[in-house]
Amino acid sequence: MAMTKNAAQKRIEELRSEILRHNRNYYVLNMPEISDFEYDLLMMELQGLEKKYPEWITPDSPTQTVGSDLVDEPALREFEQARHRYPMLSLGNTYDPNELAAFDERIRKSTDRPFTYSCELKFDGTAICLTYEQGRLVRALTRGDGSVGDVVTRNVETIPGIPTLLQPLASTSGFSGLENFEIRGEIYMPFSSFDALNHERELQGDALFANPRNAASGSLKLQDPKEVRKRGLRCVLYQVLGEDLPFQSHSEALATAKALGLPVSEYAQTCENLDEVLAFIRHWDVHRHELPFPIDGIVIKVNQLEVQAQVGYTAKAPRWATAFKFKAEEAKTRLLSIDYQVGRTGAVTPVANLEPVLLSGTIVKRASLHNYEQMKQLDIRINDWVYVEKGGEIIPKITRIDLADRDLFQSLPPDFPTHCPDCGTLLVKDEAEARHYCPNQTGCPTQIKAWLLHFVSRKALDINAGEATIEQLYNRDFLREPADFYNLTQAQLLTLDGWKERSAERLLQSIQASRQVPFDRVLYGLGIRHVGETTAKTLVAHFQTLDALQAASREALLEVNDIGDVVADSIYNYFRNDRTANLVEHLRQAGLQFAAQASSETKVSDQLAGLNFVISGTFSCSREALKNTILAHGGKNTGSISKKTSYLVAGANPGPEKINKAESLGIPILSESDFNQLINNEK
Ligand code: IVH
Repeated sequence: MAMTKNAAQKRIEELRSEILRHNRNYYVLNMPEISDFEYDLLMMELQGLEKKYPEWITPDSPTQTVGSDLVDEPALREFEQARHRYPMLSLGNTYDPNELAAFDERIRKSTDRPFTYSCELKFDGTAICLTYEQGRLVRALTRGDGSVGDVVTRNVETIPGIPTLLQPLASTSGFSGLENFEIRGEIYMPFSSFDALNHERELQGDALFANPRNAASGSLKLQDPKEVRKRGLRCVLYQVLGEDLPFQSHSEALATAKALGLPVSEYAQTCENLDEVLAFIRHWDVHRHELPFPIDGIVIKVNQLEVQAQVGYTAKAPRWATAFKFKAEEAKTRLLSIDYQVGRTGAVTPVANLEPVLLSGTIVKRASLHNYEQMKQLDIRINDWVYVEKGGEIIPKITRIDLADRDLFQSLPPDFPTHCPDCGTLLVKDEAEARHYCPNQTGCPTQIKAWLLHFVSRKALDINAGEATIEQLYNRDFLREPADFYNLTQAQLLTLDGWKERSAERLLQSIQASRQVPFDRVLYGLGIRHVGETTAKTLVAHFQTLDALQAASREALLEVNDIGDVVADSIYNYFRNDRTANLVEHLRQAGLQFAAQASSETKVSDQLAGLNFVISGTFSCSREALKNTILAHGGKNTGSISKKTSYLVAGANPGPEKINKAESLGIPILSESDFNQLINNEK
């Protein structure tokens, strides 16, 4: 049925905002909610509508821009940023081999020169751009928003195989023609590193990474290069860029990169025509599961640089290259039973127990069924034959049922529980989210224990207690709410099975130390639904104190960057609920940090009042500490330089972009000691 023009316009807007949300989940948070295929379907729908109504194409539509991995809120950005010398584009893609014929035809129409294709694996990691000057690695930039990226040089230097110094070429005895060039590629995580990392995270009680891609991009953005080194990242490079490069073709450029000692893919192949391209794709569609790292498709590029230039670019991607993407693999197996699990927030999730089956290299025994609606929609029955697929999430999901194989005598409709499987409370249904919840937040044992575990996790209060300890303390009635940690005594702990003075001491010390944990982590630890680490940081940056946050109206919450209706409601209701408000009050009495540190606790002076600082580079203290010092003296810290900036404080290795910008705007640049003098002099 044709859409009315109004309906089309509304749908375009819906699609844009949905795609932008998924971009953020994928690129910034590293927590995709949907599979790549589902994402590509949304994008295709939007492209179709924009094609039909070109008058509504806007330059900021996700079809015209590349997804950004930059943190939205400048004050929360943890990396220097720099501009790409050449924009970092994305790539068109298709799941349909027939569309490759159209791609081939388009290229043949735009050139009359002979050309070949370079076919390569599409590594599933995160894009990186390296700059080499006189044979030395001077900078590594993430894709960012395609124009500006995060400077991650220190992290990239820890990745095995990326040379900081190149081997001079024997042929030209040096770097002739390559004195200054960029090379782009992908940083990825091999399956072995990924499995080891998630195994360790499971032991530590940290959230698992959904897939190696997320793990790779999350790891690349860690603040400590030593931690990055431990993550087992690898790099493969696939595009050389620069002025007047001494090459005629892409394959020649890669061969030279290899001779310089750069890690270039061993799997690239030159194909004479479309048939050879299709054969390459067929080969890897079968053999990709034998690779020790993830790929999500094949990239097909015109090999001759001259032809590339003729064929050209759209605003978003080269016309001379495209990606053929593989659909997620699926497997068929039998549904044995369904468990109903109560999570930290009380949401009841149906989880399918399956006859074990091999899927993308791992044995799958369980799959998520999401919620009651989903079960109804699938009309799923115990003993059905079902298809499982790995999407963006950790747990595979059931996508469809083979009804032809249903045995009417054996198949049994499942019983979705009416009451909490754990505490027996009548479940309530959240219409907006199509989920059933146990409302007994403060009395349902699973919810309490899960909340306590979240509260002590490293990113929250970092208390030295794991699942077993919480279980013990809970079973002995020593723990019912987070504030109870602050009343635990050594005598109590010593009555627990297997506890000695040393272990008791360690736990009590970490509890004591948690009183100093900054407010944003305390807020995250409260376990307010939809308030993750980043949202907690954003809220603290905005409201500064718990009092202000508690008092905030829904409207005031909605004014904060990135906070939408659902999150605003969740926060608002949390503080209006007597029980949760009480629990927070108990924590306040226990002496936790409920204000952004610099503004309350360490407010030292107003010496820097009215001054805006931008900081760049590394300092004798952490950047965080320096930002706090600025705040403590009444100054403001912002992420980027503008006319309003009063000073740029430059430490070691400051970002050249920042220095240039400061100089061009005539903004004074302070060294670390200049800055220290500034505060000390005026005291
Ligand atoms: S070429 C202008 N080659 O896939 C050409 N990209 O979905 C740009 N990727 O942005 C890219 N393997 O991050 C190219 N062999 C390969 C690749 C590859 C993975 C990534 C890259 C790109 C994304 C597009």
